[in-house]
Amino acid sequence: MNVFGVDIGGSGIKGAPADLDQGRLAEERFKVLTPSPAEPEAVVASVKEVVGHFGWKGPVGLTFPGVVVDGHTRTAANVDKGWIGLDARSLFAEDLGLPVALVNDADAAGLAEVTYGAGKGRKGVTLMLTLGTGIGSALFVDGVLVPNTELGHLELHGKDAEKHTSSAAREEHGWNWHQWAERLDDYFAMVDGLFSPQLIIIGGGVSRKADKFLPLLKPLRAEIVPAQLQNDAGIVGAAMTAAKLA
Ligand code: BGC
Repeated sequence: MNVFGVDIGGSGIKGAPADLDQGRLAEERFKVLTPSPAEPEAVVASVKEVVGHFGWKGPVGLTFPGVVVDGHTRTAANVDKGWIGLDARSLFAEDLGLPVALVNDADAAGLAEVTYGAGKGRKGVTLMLTLGTGIGSALFVDGVLVPNTELGHLELHGKDAEKHTSSAAREEHGWNWHQWAERLDDYFAMVDGLFSPQLIIIGGGVSRKADKFLPLLKPLRAEIVPAQLQNDAGIVGAAMTAAKLA
C-alpha cells in the first residue's frame, strides 16, 4: 500500500508516496525550502505544493518538530511560536481537502525504524534519538510508541540538553568529532541511566556519518546503532500514521 508522507523540517519540507509493504519511498521525494519565518500559513502553502506536485488524493501524514497531541501542536522550540496551541491538523486538512495525520518528527522516524529498520523485531525498551537542529526522541516498549517524550529538553549541565549536544550545536561551535563525542557521552549516559534501553538508534542527517562519532563514544549498557532509513524515516513514519486513516 502507498500512503503519502511529508517531513516538515527546519530547512526543508520533503514528501513522497511511501510504499508501506517495503518501508521505503515509492517515488523520488520532492523538496521545497521551509519558509522563513516558518509561520503556520506559509508552511501549509509549502506542504500543499509538495502534495500537489504528485497530484496526491488520499490520506497524508505530516511530521512536526514539536509536541503533537490529538492534532494540536503544543510546543515550538525551533519553529515559529504561532504553532503553539494550534489545531494544526484541521488547518492542514481543510487546506489540502484530504484526511491528515500529524505526528512528532522523531516519533515518526522512530516508528519507521522499529518497523522496517534498525529496531525491527526488537523487544524491550528501544530509544530513537535524532540529532539535528534539535534533539528528538522516540521511546518504544516492545515496538509500541510512548509519544512526545521530548528528551532533547532534559537539563544537562544546567542547560537545555539539545543546545549543547545537537548536530547544529556541533556545527555552530566548530567542534571536531572527538569534542562532540564527549558531549554526547554525558547526554547518552543520562538517558541510559533514566530509561535503561536495550537499544539506542541514532538518527538525523548526521547518522550518515555515524562511523565518525559512534566509535568514539564511551561504552553504554545499551547497544547503540545508526538508523537505517536515514533521511526517509520521517516520510515513511508519517505515512504509517496516515495509513490508519485509510
Ligand atoms: C523538539 C522536538 C523535536 C526535535 C527534533 C526539539 O526541539 O522539541 O519535538 O522532535 O526538536 O526536531
